[in-house]
Order: sequence, then structure tokens, then C-alpha cells
Amino acid sequence: MIEFILNNKIIKTEVKSGMTLLYFIRENQGLKGTKSGCKEGDCGACTVLSGTLQKDNSVDYKSITSCLTPMANVHGKHIVTVEGVNLKNELNLAQQAIKDNFATQCGFCTPGFVNSLSGLALKHTHPTKADGINALSGNICRCTGYKSIEKAADEVTSKLQEKDHNNELEWLVENKFIPNYFKEIPLKLKALKSDKNNSEGVLVSGGTDLYVRHADALLDQDIQQAINFVSNNIEFSDTKCTIGVGASVTDLMENKQLNSYYPNLKSDLKLLSSEQIRNMASLGGNFVNASPIGDMAIFFLALNAKLMVQNSIAETREIALKDFFLDYKKIDLKDNEFIQSITFNLPDKSTYFNFEKVSKRTHLDIATVNAAISINVQGNIVVNAYISVGGVAAIPRYLSKTASYLMGKELKKEYILEAQEVLQSEISPISDVRGTDQYKRLLARQLFFAHFIKLYPNLFQLKDFVA
Ligand SMILES: Cc1cc2nc3c(=O)[nH]c(=O)nc-3n(C[C@H](O)[C@H](O)[C@H](O)COP(=O)(O)OP(=O)(O)OC[C@H]3O[C@@H](n4cnc5c(N)ncnc54)[C@H](O)[C@@H]3O)c2cc1C
Ligand code: FES
Ligand code: FES
Repeated sequence: MIEFILNNKIIKTEVKSGMTLLYFIRENQGLKGTKSGCKEGDCGACTVLSGTLQKDNSVDYKSITSCLTPMANVHGKHIVTVEGVNLKNELNLAQQAIKDNFATQCGFCTPGFVNSLSGLALKHTHPTKADGINALSGNICRCTGYKSIEKAADEVTSKLQEKDHNNELEWLVENKFIPNYFKEIPLKLKALKSDKNNSEGVLVSGGTDLYVRHADALLDQDIQQAINFVSNNIEFSDTKCTIGVGASVTDLMENKQLNSYYPNLKSDLKLLSSEQIRNMASLGGNFVNASPIGDMAIFFLALNAKLMVQNSIAETREIALKDFFLDYKKIDLKDNEFIQSITFNLPDKSTYFNFEKVSKRTHLDIATVNAAISINVQGNIVVNAYISVGGVAAIPRYLSKTASYLMGKELKKEYILEAQEVLQSEISPISDVRGTDQYKRLLARQLFFAHFIKLYPNLFQLKDFVA
């Protein structure tokens, strides 16, 4: 039995846990405001909000694409469709801003935009203009043009500057962002059956990889939620960080302690897809997906991270992430195993980290080439380095020879140029839709230099590496 709240209605349903939320909303509940567009997480027409009850009895709302969300993942949640943010006899503030700024034409995309803006309003922040635009990073409009949509987002954002944080829900209701029933949701969520929906079948975490490929096939099947076995906790000891691989990209971005160790974390991870996908995509799914350009794989390879893997009889083994990827889409994980967590050493004062990604579009695009480095330099000598690059081999590539070459050497231009030669011997890109093999070699080279220009601006500048 799956139990959740859909807008203002408690739902108890026996539908298959693999059915998509989009199918359930439209076909089972007849709520046609949520649109079915690409069904691949790209267009945002199916955007809904998913609210999770927190320990302090507040509800944390995140925008998600319902086309990639299995019903299992809505158990215990408050799911809000565009019908659920409608006021009785007038437009809500996001709808009014869209109307006033002529930010809609055919209207197909509009419910998705309204929901993303409502999600922005429900965040416990005073959003900046950039936050307003970012909230719409997963919504595509094919006829209006984005300037008028941006103006609508700006209007919503500036109104939210007045939000009263001591009385958020009351303020949002009074200011016509959401209907009154939201105030009763925390209590109603508390009263829901809390046991987990623990069925059998294919293992799913965020669903953003599996459901792009198999949504129709999973419609009539039950699935297992990875979150039943895997936590999303982010824990710190003095020297290490351990993350349950159920953690989403947004969980990482919102973690204050992680941001204090990696000051560019938010801007780095913003390069991964859109707000909706980041809210769903888990670390475990990214590693098992084993894409040669998986952003999380590249990020954590350069942190020299180790995975903890568990089997069905609770035996565990540790494996370095660099040894996890065997060949194209082949990983060191048996049928009865799952990944539990990932651990890496926290940086000391002389260790710096940098992540780079080049893609055709800045947002909502996968990388042509991505790259990361973690480097420890003491007295201008490289004591340690971990380097990774994606899109240049069948697997996310860990560059052991390039790192070994640098170790013990002075941090000097000539050694970096020579290390780049070693890097070229460690990669074997192929030509595909994202670029030719030569182009990817060039990108790998430029991104390698970019690490040093960004991390040591007093020592290196762009002109040092221009041929
Ligand atoms: C529109 C869109 C844009 C995207 N953009 C990017 C991008 O910019 N960068 C990028 O790297 N990726 C991108 N992706 C790919 C995908 O979102 C990510 O790889 C994501 O991290 C997958 O995680 P998930 O939890 O959604 O995986 P799921 O779909 O839930 O699972 C993927 C696979 O992993 C298995 N699995 C999940 N958790 C575990 C576990 N703990 N142990 C064992 N097996 C497990 C599942 O059984 C399944 O086979 C994009 C996807 C979409 C749809
Ligand atoms: S239908 Fe396009 S993102 Fe879901
Ligand atoms: S108004 Fe037509 S797609 Fe946006």
C-alpha cells in the first residue's frame, strides 16, 4: 500500500510501485494540469513538488519531474500538482506574475513553471534573482521566449524578499502564493502510515537514469527503493566524510559542512543538470549508471573516494571508486550487492580541489569532457595529487600516471606541461555526437591547465598555457 497526500487529498493506493507518478496523476486521478512532454526529465512540463516532513515538523518541498518518479518514492510525501497551488477564485502570485508579464502562449509548459516558482516560494530562504532563474533551470518553453518568463520570476523573487521566516506558511498563504490547506499538511503527513514501502523488484533510487530507459516497462511492476537499504546521511569525523549514497545532488549542495570544505561546491554541482534532476539524482545511481561522463564519478574519483558495498547477507567490502569502473558500463558490483556509502579524506589546509565541466549548454546538459583534481602542495612541492577526467575513455578515467608524474615535483609551468603529455597517454577518446576525439583531447588538456590557473592564480595565468 502506498500512502501519500496529493494536493489536499489523502491517497491510499495499491497500484504497482514502479508506475510513474505522472501516469498516476493524469490517468488514475484525472489531473491533467501536469503535462506529459519528453518523459525523459528534460522539459519540466511534468514538474510537481514533493514535500517531506522534517524533524521540526516543517515540510521540505522540492521540485521533481513526475515522469521519472516511481510511485514508491511518493510514499509518505505531500505531492503538489498545479491544481494543488490554485487559489479558489483568483490566480496565485506566480500565475499572476506569468500573466502580467505575458510569460505564456500555448500554455503547455506553464503548469511546470508555476510549480517550479511555487517550489521556490516554499524554500526556507529569501531567494536572490539568480535563485529565481535557477529554480526554472529544468523548465523549457518552446514558444514564449525566456525574457518574459525571467521577468515573471523576478517579480516572484522580489515579493519573496518580504517573507516572514518566523511564520512562513501563514505569510505564503496571506500573500497568495499557496492555498490555505498547506497549513494542515504537517499534521496530516505525521498521521500517515510511516512504514516503508518495501516491495521486491528492480532497485531504484532517484529514478532519473532507470526511468529514462524503462519507465513503460516498469509501469506494471513493483520496485525496491534503494533508500530502504541506503541512507542519505552526510557524516563527518575529524579527517573523513562518509555519505550514504541515497544522498541526492541537492543534499550535497545544501550541506553546510561540506560547503565549508569545498567552497565551490554549489557552483560546481549546479552544472549537473537542472534543479528538478538534482533534487532526485542520487550518488548511488550516478556511480552505477557508470557513464564515462558521470559528474559525480569524476568529482569523487579526484577525492580518492572509497565505496562500501553490501550484499544480501549483510557482508560488506570496501572498494576504491577508481577500481569500481571496469569497462564501458561494467562495474565491480555483483547481482546481490548494492552500494551503501562513500568515504573520502577531508582536505587539510594545503589541499585544494577543482572541478570543471564543458558541455554544449551550461545547464541541463551532460558533459563533453569533465575533469577534477585534488592536490596537496607544501612549500611549492606537490606532495599528493588525485586527478580524473570524463568523456575521454570507456569509463570515468582516473589518471594515476599523470598524478605520479607530478608528485615530488615543484609546482612549475614546465612540469605541468609535461604532466599534460602524460595525461594524453592515459586517455583514449572516441569521436561521437559530443565532439571528435581531437576536440576531446584538446578539452582534456585545457581543463587540466584550468585546474592550476584557478587554484594557484598567483603562480599561473592563461597566457602561460597558450601554445
Ligand atoms: C535530464 C537529465 C539530465 C541529466 N544530467 C546529468 C548530468 O548533468 N550529469 C550526470 O552525471 N548525470 C546526469 N544525468 C544522469 C542521472 O541523473 C544521474 O546519473 C543520477 O545520479 C542517477 O541517479 P538516480 O538516483 O536517479 O539513479 P536511478 O535511476 O535510481 O538508478 C540508476 C541505476 O543505479 C542503480 N542503483 C541506484 N542506487 C544504487 C545503490 N545504492 N546500489 C546499487 N545500485 C544502485 C539502480 O538499480 C539503477 O540500475 C541526467 C539525467 C537526466 C534524466
Ligand atoms: S515530461 Fe519532460 S520532464 Fe517530464
Ligand atoms: S507557452 Fe508554449 S511551450 Fe511555453
